[in-house]
Amino acid sequence: MSDLDFSIPEIYRGQDISQLKGNNIDQPKQILESYVRQFPINRHRGTNLFLYGTANGQGKTALAWYVLEKAKTPNMHAILKRDGTPDFINAEQTRVNARSYSGLGIRFDKFLDLAALKYDKEARSDLQAMADLDIVLLDDVSEWALSANRHEDQRALTSFLKERAENKRITVITSNLDPKGFQLIMGNTAWSALNQSLLEVQFTGGDIRPHLQTLRQQ
Ligand SMILES: Nc1ncnc2c1ncn2[C@@H]1O[C@H](COP(=O)(O)OP(=O)(O)OP(=O)(O)O)[C@@H](O)[C@H]1O
Ligand SMILES: [Mg+2]
Repeated sequence: MSDLDFSIPEIYRGQDISQLKGNNIDQPKQILESYVRQFPINRHRGTNLFLYGTANGQGKTALAWYVLEKAKTPNMHAILKRDGTPDFINAEQTRVNARSYSGLGIRFDKFLDLAALKYDKEARSDLQAMADLDIVLLDDVSEWALSANRHEDQRALTSFLKERAENKRITVITSNLDPKGFQLIMGNTAWSALNQSLLEVQFTGGDIRPHLQTLRQQ
């Protein structure tokens, strides 16, 4: 792929998520830590993630990148026992089953810009390569990101999600829309593809951005 890679935006890189505190973030954090511990099962099932909350600055993107970063360098692995229950092992210690996943994160507005380049060979092949990755983050699938051509935007998203669902590949979405709003704005078919195997994680905190400077000085 050309300029698309797994690089994580600087403010979300190498996060110690124990630094994310208060603001009702504990529950989403626990759910996603457990999701990451059970990666092989979630990978097998193609369990998608929908991280949503109407406010800005709640930690949705931060936790989404945490999931992707762990997918790239996992060390706790669950292997499936014969009865289908997980058995946790520490792959770093045992050097067993160490598996990282191919993945990439992209802001939804940029994804739509890329998808709009219908007759550009390189853009087509980037989009196809993206559809084939184990795990893809579409960050901020929200109304502001849509172009003047909503129909084309819906079509690009739906086609991408359908193809990934058919191959049980994980898509992580963050959004300011709740599930109902998502269906209304992005379309029922897009939701249905995502919902084939889905973990919804609701964020209920307020916007932490105005308080970040004070938090970091503490
Ligand atoms: N509970 C928290 N404690 C400390 N820092 C936090 C917390 N939640 C988020 N942050 C930090 O605040 C900034 C904003 O968070 P983030 O970008 O994840 O918000 P968001 O929910 O994706 O917002 P938006 O809906 O606007 O995209 C990030 O730098 C993140 O690391
Ligand atoms: Mg965000």
